Amino acid sequence: MPVPLLDLKAQHATIKDDVVRALMQVVDDQLFILGKPVQALEAAVAKLSHTKHAIGCASGTDALLIAIKALDIGKGDEVVTTPFTFFATAGTIHNAGATPVFADIEPDTFNLSVAAAKAAVTKKTKAVIPVDLFGQIAPIEEYMAAMPGMPIIEDAAQSIGAKRRIKGQTTMAGQCATIGTFSFFPSKNLGGYGDGGMVVTQDDKLADRLFKLRTHGATTTYYHDEVGFNSRLDALQAAVLLAKLPHLPVWSQARRAHAAIYDQAFADVPEIRTPVVAKENETIVNQYTIRVPRRDELQAALKAKGIGCAVYYPLPLHLQKCFAYLGCKPGQFPESERAAKEVISLPVYPELTRAQQDEVIAAVRGFFGR
Ligand SMILES: Cc1ncc(COP(=O)(O)O)c(C=O)c1O
Repeated sequence: MPVPLLDLKAQHATIKDDVVRALMQVVDDQLFILGKPVQALEAAVAKLSHTKHAIGCASGTDALLIAIKALDIGKGDEVVTTPFTFFATAGTIHNAGATPVFADIEPDTFNLSVAAAKAAVTKKTKAVIPVDLFGQIAPIEEYMAAMPGMPIIEDAAQSIGAKRRIKGQTTMAGQCATIGTFSFFPSKNLGGYGDGGMVVTQDDKLADRLFKLRTHGATTTYYHDEVGFNSRLDALQAAVLLAKLPHLPVWSQARRAHAAIYDQAFADVPEIRTPVVAKENETIVNQYTIRVPRRDELQAALKAKGIGCAVYYPLPLHLQKCFAYLGCKPGQFPESERAAKEVISLPVYPELTRAQQDEVIAAVRGFFGR
């Protein structure tokens, strides 16, 4: 039985009526840019994230870009981030005119190492961008304690609704950083039917700035305080996301349940390192990512059996051609480079059936002769 890495059709089938109704309402209203659904989604995401403000924008990439711009970061400035992430995390630093400065990850959670990030800070550093990779929040409070006063942009593109216990309190992805950013790319736990993103913050001044930056820097139509972007969240996307949002906790719980089944099924296979979730964290398992030897062979074997899998990410960002100008060398960030060679993500979407999951388990175990 083929098993896809992600089955968006299966999810759509469970919510089709609600989504189509929401879409038709926008079509009937003929108000496609910002408007009521966007405001309602912003309010709902602010509530979910325990933040004062949420600002919809065109993508998770734009969310990062306007966050960087809102902090007045540009030419001559440095921003510290992880090389083991999706390209946009560092691409937006470059596109804002600043210089990405990489620091290595922790091998267990794949998140930016606090000590490495601190060591990478110079007089030019204007912010740190940790990434809540694969669904678990990076230790935001530890970066803040290690680098007092340093703005933190939490790239929570993969982690909306993830939780972390900090000093006995449950905190949400995006809540504690200076600015948090989300992506609604279709493969995310809360995915739109196209691109979309959002920025969250507790800071009133930053929120004003972010609202302006997403609409060409304008406070009122045709009056521009600064040069911003055209980065509005589409009303049709907001309508879809509002219809999906009530399901997010159940979907993320289903992913955690699948992850627990995999963890158990692979426990006696010494070659497989199952994901480590920090004890403070409740992950939303955007990806279930194991570490294995002979990763490329395993990927080929799974593909041959029709089992979806993917490598996030095969080449760390410091070794990408476009960042050669930064002068990084192979071996400079050994944990990121090792992770890039060993990781493989398996199907973990909420609608995955037990029979499908058993198929994946059998194929992976079989590869290692179990
Ligand atoms: C960690 C991370 N940052 C940023 C982004 C960019 O989001 P988008 O694809 O919505 O632009 C993604 C999306 O894959 C991501 O995974």
